Amino acid sequence: MRAARFHAYGTAENLVIEQAPEPHPGPGEIRVRATAASVNPIDWKLRAGALHGLLPLELPAIPGRDAAGVVDAIGDGVRGVSIGDRVFGLTGVTGATAELVVLSAWAPTPGTWDDGQAAGAGLASVTAMRGLDALGPLAGRTLLVEGAAGGVGSAAVEIAVAQGATVIGTASERNHGFLTALGAVPTTYGPGLARRLSALAPHGVHLALDTAASGSLDDLVAITGDPARVATVADHAGGQRLGTHVVNAENDPALLSAAAELGRRGRYTPRVEQTYPLERIADAHAHAERGRTRGKIVVRI
Ligand SMILES: NC(=O)c1ccc[n+]([C@@H]2O[C@H](COP(=O)([O-])OP(=O)(O)OC[C@H]3O[C@@H](n4cnc5c(N)ncnc54)[C@H](OP(=O)(O)O)[C@@H]3O)[C@@H](O)[C@H]2O)c1
Repeated sequence: MRAARFHAYGTAENLVIEQAPEPHPGPGEIRVRATAASVNPIDWKLRAGALHGLLPLELPAIPGRDAAGVVDAIGDGVRGVSIGDRVFGLTGVTGATAELVVLSAWAPTPGTWDDGQAAGAGLASVTAMRGLDALGPLAGRTLLVEGAAGGVGSAAVEIAVAQGATVIGTASERNHGFLTALGAVPTTYGPGLARRLSALAPHGVHLALDTAASGSLDDLVAITGDPARVATVADHAGGQRLGTHVVNAENDPALLSAAAELGRRGRYTPRVEQTYPLERIADAHAHAERGRTRGKIVVRI
């Protein structure tokens, strides 16, 4: 099968398109003929070797954790899915940017999403939902999403709005129209945030979700008044120091199904900023790595 791979840790230029052995689904897994994959920060961090101490990879490795496609093989013990079903979901931590992809968690793709949107939905939605779940009930609450224009942040905005929250999102000014379209009140991040928020939310900001790891966690605790009202998916050291919720994604099919159900109801539509063909995987990684993504970067397989 054709796949993107890297044979050594390094820059995006290390990515090559070549033939790779076909993967086979183990017990509890399925294999899809992939139509699209998306790029997440963990993909370029793993490729660069930045996470080698935590998650050492066997090289050569195929990057990518998020894929969408059509089921073409089913592992032992799997129920409720058939060959030919359209699904989206998550690999272990690698393997998504290839013609054949083994998924360990998946859900049926709603008819409201195209393949690129489905490929952008997996990691962003499970991360956003776990972060929001940690904060408790959202209905009637005012929630600040720090980093609201990114993959996780934009998913969090739509999901929180669907749960009845009033959402204020931070982004650079060029993304304020994008945040408004998602249902959030936009503001800029950085110095003066507390002052801007007191004008936007005179009754206070009850809860905050950090998806930016920009060093603002102390400010978010001060703004909400309690570390228990703050969750971070991105700043693990800061969250542990301050006692906020520190949340990681899990390959949880129930969360993927919940995201798909919101998609079916038109309440969550993964936003794709740009789609690259597989041959341009290096450009897709370089784009994601610049950290200015609006929604998701997708790779068409
Ligand atoms: N714990 C987990 O399991 C888990 C899972 C997924 C992701 N993550 C982490 O969560 C973070 C977000 O992931 P992602 O996929 O959403 O990344 P992403 O899509 O690459 O995020 C890019 C966004 O970050 C925004 N941004 C940049 N600097 C900012 C700042 N100082 N303040 C606020 N926003 C800023 C940018 O907005 P502007 O262009 O408007 O500046 C851009 O929209 C990453 O650190 C990632 O590693 C963790």
